[in-house]
Amino acid sequence: VGRDIFHYEQVSSTQDIAHQLAKEGYGHGTVVVADEQVKGKGRMSRAWHSKRNEGIWFSLLLKPELPPVQAPQITLLAAVVLAEAISSISDLSPQIKWPNDILINHKKIAGILTEMQAEQDQIQYIVLGIGINVNQDQSSLPEDIRHKATSLRQESGKTWEINWLIQLILETFENTYEQFIQEGFLPVKNKWEKYGYRLGQEVTISTMRKAWQATLVGIEADGALLTRTEEGIQEKLYSAEIHWGE
Ligand code: BTN
Repeated sequence: VGRDIFHYEQVSSTQDIAHQLAKEGYGHGTVVVADEQVKGKGRMSRAWHSKRNEGIWFSLLLKPELPPVQAPQITLLAAVVLAEAISSISDLSPQIKWPNDILINHKKIAGILTEMQAEQDQIQYIVLGIGINVNQDQSSLPEDIRHKATSLRQESGKTWEINWLIQLILETFENTYEQFIQEGFLPVKNKWEKYGYRLGQEVTISTMRKAWQATLVGIEADGALLTRTEEGIQEKLYSAEIHWGE
């Protein structure tokens, strides 16, 4: 990972560039970093605010020799990597909100966007996009998300060296990914559950059609969230939102 690193001052989205590089034949582990994205992309077609030098905005090109059903494991792995990296450099307690938001003190500090190209039973490539809010102060976070977003600086009280952090994350990723390829998903699952937000607790879960109360039990190898209702019925969820405190 990181043998080919492309660094840009300004791009529309590092995701788009990584897709382009994949098509040009660049290999597993190629990294695209930007100081600023003018069209940063979040999940569910949301925008991702990525101002100059305020955070880490990068995409990782991966070519795992795995079937497409295992792609969600790599997203969950990336969340574990971010949680471990943040824990290792601070006394903060990052948590992972399923599927893959990183929270500190209940506020989102980082997000992951996975885009896959697959053919039948084989992943062609994955573009794993990682965005981490690092040096924003309260006022430089967009007003509409200020109440639910945070940055490393706001939580730790100090500013951070972006390039050093990227290096640390790439190293942590490399080790965790290597272990995943050698030993499979179980070590990732165990670590994910160590950081899992509200695991064992009752939350409100909602989909487009309904909302209900359930306890979060854990994750499954296919990336599903395992939940249990008060009546003891277990259910696997593939897409839903988790809420709390309402
Ligand atoms: C989310 O939580 O919605 C995912 C956010 C992912 C943002 C990163 S920043 C680097 C990469 N390039 C993008 O345009 N998006 C991802």
